Amino acid sequence: MSEGLRRPIGVAVLGMGNVGTEVVRILIEKAVDLHARVGAPIELRGVAVRDVARDRAVDPALITGDAASLVTSDDVDIVVELIGGIDVPRALIASALEHGKSVVTANKALLADYTGELAGIAATAKVDLYFEAAVAGAIPVIRPLMQSLAGDTVQRVAGIVNGTTNFILSAMDADGDDYAVVLAEAGRLGYAEADPTADVEGYDAASKAAILASLAFHTRVTAGDVYREGISTITADDLASAKSLNCTIKLLAICERIADSVGKERISARVYPTLVPKTHPLAAVNGAFNAVVVEAENAGRLMFYGQGAGGAPTASAVLGDLVMAARNKVHGGRGPLESTYASLSIAPMGDVLTRYYVSMRVADRPGVLSAVAAEFSKRDVSIATVRQEGADENARLIVVTHRAPDAALAQTVDALKELDAVAEVASVLRLEGTDE
Ligand code: HSE
Repeated sequence: MSEGLRRPIGVAVLGMGNVGTEVVRILIEKAVDLHARVGAPIELRGVAVRDVARDRAVDPALITGDAASLVTSDDVDIVVELIGGIDVPRALIASALEHGKSVVTANKALLADYTGELAGIAATAKVDLYFEAAVAGAIPVIRPLMQSLAGDTVQRVAGIVNGTTNFILSAMDADGDDYAVVLAEAGRLGYAEADPTADVEGYDAASKAAILASLAFHTRVTAGDVYREGISTITADDLASAKSLNCTIKLLAICERIADSVGKERISARVYPTLVPKTHPLAAVNGAFNAVVVEAENAGRLMFYGQGAGGAPTASAVLGDLVMAARNKVHGGRGPLESTYASLSIAPMGDVLTRYYVSMRVADRPGVLSAVAAEFSKRDVSIATVRQEGADENARLIVVTHRAPDAALAQTVDALKELDAVAEVASVLRLEGTDE
């Protein structure tokens, strides 16, 4: 084990937005406690920002616009990256690691594509790369997967990992409002960004799914491996239909092991709006909260719940990583890096077994139900329930299937759209949280 440092631990913070501001505040306010927990003082050596002229709650002498110099500075031991984006933080983190600094980052978009590259540099330099804050804010889920469950076999990770979309879907469920109305309200309240695309189209959740799947299955999974659909097409009618099935709709990130037809193990990582029974624990996760359910062979089902975003909650996870990295600097040794020994292949979405809910406007006459049912049966898709709502011009058929390969379900929906008796396939959603 390497010899530890016998002096204060120098920290550089890159970025002073919501999270960076809270990290700096906690570092200053809790300096005495952090010293005791680490075994050496943690000293802030500099804060890199884009606009150096702006007034900030930190000694102006610590502010710099030169992040590249700060991350290689001799008196910096740990770099905390909170600037977001890809290219700039990728280069800064690589440089910091190459110069022997441990790195703490909350940058899920960067990690989803470049954990392999950065972990490789960290391994060569024998330093830490920690990222608890990258998934689900304050909720400890990275460390449980990497450490607490290191001796178990994780079968499935499913969760609500995006607060913005959960806020929107919860409000649509509670108030019956349409997507655009609630999105505008979420923007006014500061839950949705000016450009909400990354959140509402599921990119943010897909990055987090890639990180979770990589850790859970000891396999390199990148954002491009994650099947993704967002929530921007969800309507008030969808939520009303969900209610009539005693369900709600959640944007879920699902990572699981699946076996192919000859029993060979593969993995699936996917993000899409999902019907979840009201009795399922994830249905009770409302507003901007996040929750992750982990199922492991021996541990069984574990649920992690809490604040998935926001300055102070995310800073809590950053500080946890910072203390771990600082302890390693003081006492010697390193935490675990990524493990990708299993190298499982990624199953295409079409092979994944899912359940569908299909709502369609239909002609209200004899033979329609059998024509609709025939399209399911032709593709070996078994129907679990079928219900008619309304009559005559307003007749709607709502079909819920058993599990079937997603490709067979999608082909069935395409065929239904071509039937004379079907005026419109109004809504198609997948179901989770049931075993049928
Ligand atoms: N934009 C994210 C969310 C928070 O809405 O949950 C940061 O990951």
